[in-house]
Amino acid sequence: MSQGGQQRPKSSITYKGVRFPWQAPLHCLQAMESFEVRPDDIWLLTYTKSGTTWIGDIVNKILVNSGLREKEDPNIDHAPYAEYHLYSKPNFQLLAEAPSPRVITSHLLPQFLPPQIFVKKPKIISVARNPKDIVTSSAYHYQIIEAQEDYSSLQNIMDAIMSGKIIFGEWHTHVLYWWNKREDDNVLFLKYEDMKTDLESSIKKVCEFLGCRLDTQTLKKISEETTIDATRKRDMKPKDARLIAYNIDPAMSPFVRKGVVGDWKNHFTVAQSEEFDKWCAEVLKHRGLTFQYEA
Ligand code: A3P
Repeated sequence: MSQGGQQRPKSSITYKGVRFPWQAPLHCLQAMESFEVRPDDIWLLTYTKSGTTWIGDIVNKILVNSGLREKEDPNIDHAPYAEYHLYSKPNFQLLAEAPSPRVITSHLLPQFLPPQIFVKKPKIISVARNPKDIVTSSAYHYQIIEAQEDYSSLQNIMDAIMSGKIIFGEWHTHVLYWWNKREDDNVLFLKYEDMKTDLESSIKKVCEFLGCRLDTQTLKKISEETTIDATRKRDMKPKDARLIAYNIDPAMSPFVRKGVVGDWKNHFTVAQSEEFDKWCAEVLKHRGLTFQYEA
């Protein structure tokens, strides 16, 4: 039993053809089918290692500075994953009791999301990142988190992404779905690399999308507080309930690492890079979605 309260299965599961990690157990995935979505929810729908923690932080700070949320508490999940069970209760239950506006994160592919999302049309923010940096980031992440899959090498993770057998399912299906919805009124599609290039204007975009009005000074303050360096300083502290639930050594920094564009260059061999580029060009062919691979 983890101190977070949940009895962990020893392996990931397969649900409707997709692998899921222990954090997203069957009862949570099934609960998504009847999960009550609220029109004023804010959903952060990202693929893993694409800047999920970052956008959650930004949205939370916008809401706090707009007076729509209580003061920030670093020891709570301010944007819980809909499909996770980390603490004594599954997140779908905690979220049902949470006040509006809720900020809800999910890595789920569209077919696993609560169907009400497509009816009630809450605000959705999707952040996409170049997949070579996702592979690199994952290679570090899975060294410290219990993945229960063989993600021990970059090649294994690359293969898992290319075959679609990676946990949470196909990367390209995820990003292309939200890319195709980018013109919808309730969808904001962002790229990690654009946020790196100009954080302040990305934050302004998020702010306007959420219907919040913040002055230039406050936007600047939020951008200073959400740079990689500032975020690293605030990263999970030893007593953080999330660290305890994940069983992570506090000496490690699980979610905030380098935070740069192009770290893949330090890890991919030329052959791996070519193989991955070829695959990527194929799955994104004629879709108009491109990524920046270098800073
Ligand atoms: P790296 O491992 O490449 O550094 P997620 O939150 O979806 O798991 O994504 C994690 C990635 O986002 C990590 O990438 C992490 O360092 C990066 N990240 C977290 N906070 C960030 C920030 N404030 N600015 C830029 N990148 C950030």
